[in-house]
Amino acid sequence: MKAVIYTEYGPPSVLKITEWERPRPRNHEILVRVKASTVSAGVIWVRQGQYPGSWLFTFLLRLFNGIRRPKHPILGYEFSGMVEAIGAGVSSFKPGDEVYGTTTGLNNGAYAEYLCVPEKWKLGVVKLKPQSLGFKEAAALPVGGMTALQLLQKTGLKKGRRVLIYGASGSVGTYAVQIAKYWGANVSAACSPSNGEWIRNLGAEAILDYHNLDFLPEKEKFDVVFDAVGKFEKRTLKLLLKKGGTFSSVKSLTHESLEKLEALEKMVEAGALNPVLDRTYALDEIVAAHEYVDLGHKKGNVVVICDASSNIGDH
Ligand SMILES: NC(=O)c1ccc[n+]([C@@H]2O[C@H](COP(=O)([O-])OP(=O)(O)OC[C@H]3O[C@@H](n4cnc5c(N)ncnc54)[C@H](OP(=O)(O)O)[C@@H]3O)[C@@H](O)[C@H]2O)c1
Repeated sequence: MKAVIYTEYGPPSVLKITEWERPRPRNHEILVRVKASTVSAGVIWVRQGQYPGSWLFTFLLRLFNGIRRPKHPILGYEFSGMVEAIGAGVSSFKPGDEVYGTTTGLNNGAYAEYLCVPEKWKLGVVKLKPQSLGFKEAAALPVGGMTALQLLQKTGLKKGRRVLIYGASGSVGTYAVQIAKYWGANVSAACSPSNGEWIRNLGAEAILDYHNLDFLPEKEKFDVVFDAVGKFEKRTLKLLLKKGGTFSSVKSLTHESLEKLEALEKMVEAGALNPVLDRTYALDEIVAAHEYVDLGHKKGNVVVICDASSNIGDH
C-alpha cells in the first residue's frame, strides 16, 4: 500500500511517500481503507519532535514517540474510511461500515491507504460515521471537537454566561465557538479581524482582535476564558476575566471517549456543529500540506485524502 513515513524529526521534507506492507487485522482489530486524515497542530509537533515553548511537553512527546528518532513511522491522528476486513473477535463492526476515529496511543497513524485499529481501546476511539458527515468532515471532527468539548465542560459554562474563545480560528477554536453557542452561552471570539466574519457566522456575537486585547469595563468581562490555541498570555487574564471566572487552556491533558464523540454527533445532527474545512490535499501532496500548516494560519482543519481511487466529495 501507499503510505507516508518519517524516520527522523524535522521539517515537512522528512515525510516520504513509500510502498509499505499492508497491515492485517489481528483478533480484535478492524482493517480500515482510509479515505481521509488531517494535518493537525499535534501532528506538526510530533513530526518536528518538539513542542514549541515547553521542554516538559517536548520531553513527554519524545518519550512516547522516540527519544532520538521516531519509533512509529506513520503519522496521522484522525481518520475516516471504510471497514475492509475484521479480526475474528470483532463484534461491533462489519466490512463495508463507514467509520471514523483517532489513532491515539497506537503504533501507526492514518497517512496510509490502510490502517488497523482495535475495535475498542483505552486512549483512542473508532465509531460508525454519522450519515450527515462526509468523509472529509468526519476525519476533521474527533481531536479538535473532543478537546473543545472536554475543556469547555471543565469550565462549567452555562446558558447566558459570557465566554471568550481565544484563538477562535483554529480547529479547537472553531469547535469551541459552536459548542458554546449550542449551550446558549454569549460567545465572544478573539481572532484576526480578517477572520471575523466567518467566525461570527459560526455563532460568535462579538469579535475581538487577538493582537489588541484592550482593557474591558467590568460589565464586559467574561465568566469563562478558553485559550483554544495555547498562546494566551496569562497577564492579559485579569484584564478579561471577571472575579471568580474560570480559565481553561488547550495546554491541558485531555481524554478521548465514545461518549464525547456521541455528544458531538448530537450537535452535528441538530445542525449546530459543522467541521470547518480549510484546504484539502492528496496524500501525494503531504509535504505541501504540512508546509501550509507549519505557517500557523490554518482556518479550522486541513484534510488529506488518502484514497485517490474514489471521489469522496464534500459530502
Ligand atoms: N489538549 C489536547 O488534547 C489538544 C488537542 C488538540 C490540539 N491541542 C493544541 O491546541 C492548539 C491549537 O490547535 P488547533 O489545531 O486548534 O489550532 P491551529 O489550527 O494550529 O491554530 C491556527 C489558528 O490560530 C490562530 N492564531 C495563531 N496565533 C494566535 C494567537 N497568538 N492568538 C490567537 N489566535 C492565534 C491563527 O489565526 P491567524 O492566522 O489569524 O493568526 C490560526 O487560524 C495546539 O497547540 C495543539 O497542540 C491540544
